[in-house]
Amino acid sequence: MKTILYYFSGTGNSLAIAKSLCTAIGECDIIPVATATTNPGPIVPGVERVGIVNPVYFTGIPSLVAEFAGRLDLTGVRYLFAVETMGGSGGPSALHQLDTILKRSMGNRGLDAGFSVKMPGNYLLMYNPPEGQKRDGMLEDSDRYVQEIAGVVKGEKRMKIPSSLLLSLIHRVMYPRFLGSVHESDRKFSVDERCTSCGTCVEVCPVRNIRLEGGRPTWLHRCEQCLACIQLCPAEAIQAGGKTDGRERYRHPAISIAELKGQSGRPPAG
Ligand SMILES: Cc1cc2nc3c(=O)[nH]c(=O)nc-3n(C[C@H](O)[C@H](O)[C@H](O)COP(=O)(O)O)c2cc1C
Repeated sequence: MKTILYYFSGTGNSLAIAKSLCTAIGECDIIPVATATTNPGPIVPGVERVGIVNPVYFTGIPSLVAEFAGRLDLTGVRYLFAVETMGGSGGPSALHQLDTILKRSMGNRGLDAGFSVKMPGNYLLMYNPPEGQKRDGMLEDSDRYVQEIAGVVKGEKRMKIPSSLLLSLIHRVMYPRFLGSVHESDRKFSVDERCTSCGTCVEVCPVRNIRLEGGRPTWLHRCEQCLACIQLCPAEAIQAGGKTDGRERYRHPAISIAELKGQSGRPPAG
């Protein structure tokens, strides 16, 4: 039976999980959430088995994934699951948020299963992403977990969506603050003299939030804070305030910049 996996990814963790899951499940296509949301109106998958893979942002889901979930038409979908990739914790509250949005828009039809996968954390504004053996160990563990998830999905097993009271409380405080400022968070971003005007930042932005003006990136304030522009700039020329200069950049080692460029279905910002 055909499966469609929708994904959102800034630095490749969620895309890597979506790709491995697709291979393990078989007969599966992956579609970027950014492409699926380009046109207005309901999003109809047209298959019976659907998955959503995205990173955790401030114990919740990216703003674009929340919009996507509210527009997803689950009529005809028999099995729906989600995978949250996260640097630390926050997966259960993100799953709960996703489940609640789906139930609200689909008359109590929510997730049939939900999983949280620990991956290298990419929130460069607060910490250095893990490197070396630590990073490789995390990626190996996640590869093993994907095989387990694939088994659950192929068997279409239904499970209770995990919950955590502590995470719910943190989510209630942190997430609305994140959501309230996320689109404007690019006002902190700047570019330094290392910029070569290559345009990678423009192409890797899933929501086409960047255009080049005079050869330099300008941000358009519909940012999702995925950090792709900062993390994937080949010259490491993009910074967020004083917090990112000198910090190691992160990209999932199995995902190329070219793959991340293919995420946005939107026309280039004019
Ligand atoms: C804006 C932002 C907020 C984040 N918040 C959390 C969080 O609350 N909990 C967590 O465990 N990881 C958090 N992370 C880390 C990512 O969820 C994690 O590294 C994820 O796997 C990145 O996926 P991607 O490579 O597909 O973008 C955050 C990352 C970003 C960019």
